[in-house]
Amino acid sequence: MSDLILVIDEGTTSTRAMLFAPDGKCLASKAAELTQHYPEPGRVEHDAAEIWERTLAVTRAMVDQAGGAERIAAIGITNQRETVVFWDRESGEPLAPAIVWQDRRTAAICRDLREAGHEPAVQAKTGLLLDPYFSGSKIGWAMQNWPQLKEAGNRLAIGTIESWLIWKLTAGENGAGVHITDATNASRTALMAIGSGHWDDGLIELFGAPRKALPEIVDCAGRFGETTLFGAPIPICGIAGDQQAATIGQSCLKPGETKATFGTGAFVLTQAGPTPPTSRNRLLSTIVWQLGGRRAYALEGSVFVAGSLIKWLRDEIGLIGTAAETEALARGVPDNGGVYLVPALSGLGAPWWQPEARGALSGLSFSTSKAHIVRAALEAMAHQAHDLKTAFAADGVDWQSVRIDGGMVANDWMAQDLADMLGVSVERPKFAETTALGAAMLAGVGCGLFDGLEAASVMRGSVETFEPAIDADIRAARLAGWKTAVDKVVG
Ligand code: G3P
Repeated sequence: MSDLILVIDEGTTSTRAMLFAPDGKCLASKAAELTQHYPEPGRVEHDAAEIWERTLAVTRAMVDQAGGAERIAAIGITNQRETVVFWDRESGEPLAPAIVWQDRRTAAICRDLREAGHEPAVQAKTGLLLDPYFSGSKIGWAMQNWPQLKEAGNRLAIGTIESWLIWKLTAGENGAGVHITDATNASRTALMAIGSGHWDDGLIELFGAPRKALPEIVDCAGRFGETTLFGAPIPICGIAGDQQAATIGQSCLKPGETKATFGTGAFVLTQAGPTPPTSRNRLLSTIVWQLGGRRAYALEGSVFVAGSLIKWLRDEIGLIGTAAETEALARGVPDNGGVYLVPALSGLGAPWWQPEARGALSGLSFSTSKAHIVRAALEAMAHQAHDLKTAFAADGVDWQSVRIDGGMVANDWMAQDLADMLGVSVERPKFAETTALGAAMLAGVGCGLFDGLEAASVMRGSVETFEPAIDADIRAARLAGWKTAVDKVVG
């Protein structure tokens, strides 16, 4: 019997495959690290061939774990968004490095477009802003700077990560794959008019993207092709960008329901229903799913640095040996000792959108210990989330509670700090892999196991709740200290 769902969750720092039972139980999981390439300050690249090889290896491990491809009803795919891959349709090999969402190389292009007055029209069509974060300017830059892309002519294929993986999964021996992207990932390229569900010729021209190299935009659930790489054919039935998948996995299905994922970055999405929201406070409007050709939207606040800050403190600065140590260190001091860390290591995202901003550590004295700096790093998560809460409220979206997930929220101290600083209940699911769960839900809908996302919500398990418990004066003083620190960085 084939009733298992295999999820591929390709993130910024690792790629993972997971096996789910129809009741949402996670039966097995395998992850592989991805190499981060930093060729110059502000530039971040991935090797798309490595992404494919490692994804294939972890996927194969899950097929073996399931007892063979015939046990698997469907594959769901979720991925780091905006990162763009360039490949050759004939050889199936990458033609250039993948430009990662964190990459700031197109800051000047975006600034010039903004100064030329294009931002209001771009925002009205795409729900996005003119920032190097989104794929459009990255594609335009690559076309100008990597001659092999133009030389490839009709052989050039471009896509975000899910598009690349689906091509590779569906390509037979030396054959062509299926070239598609789902509406959530397409909505992050700045090339799609999010109200229409189609690529927009004006945007394609503005950013200098080659129209014929782009994939077809499809729903998030359906039958999109099958892979025969593992023996019996397995259909690909669910696709969504990772933040949209987490929103689904957290069952944020009704307008106002909000999730915050603390992964490499931190991304807060509030479900907005069938009409694209309009932000006047530099938040994003984005497609949260498209099913049966009908779209639901979310308001999004994107923070570029979250777990990557802890990884940096561990791997580059050597301040900690493991991420898990941070909880005891933060608890080991009564407060931050006046230390604030503004983690603008790849510029600042919402609500500032300053790609050239750089990180700052302030308030140091001889009484500052390692614990204060680590605590300041963790506190920065709640501070950044609080800035988003203010922007969402100014856009008329007042969070009643927030559902949290992502690798960082295993830290109880941080979960409580989020409740304290946001001043609302914070719910944490016992099973924290909500991104993968959302992709499993979509795949379950796509293969007919469930008749919609409400029904698929049975896959979501129980939650624990953190309630605000901080003294109001302490909270106000923390926020004032953060404001002073961040004001110095944004200038
Ligand atoms: O928009 C970027 C986002 O999709 C990256 O997600 O999980 O790698 O932090 P993650």
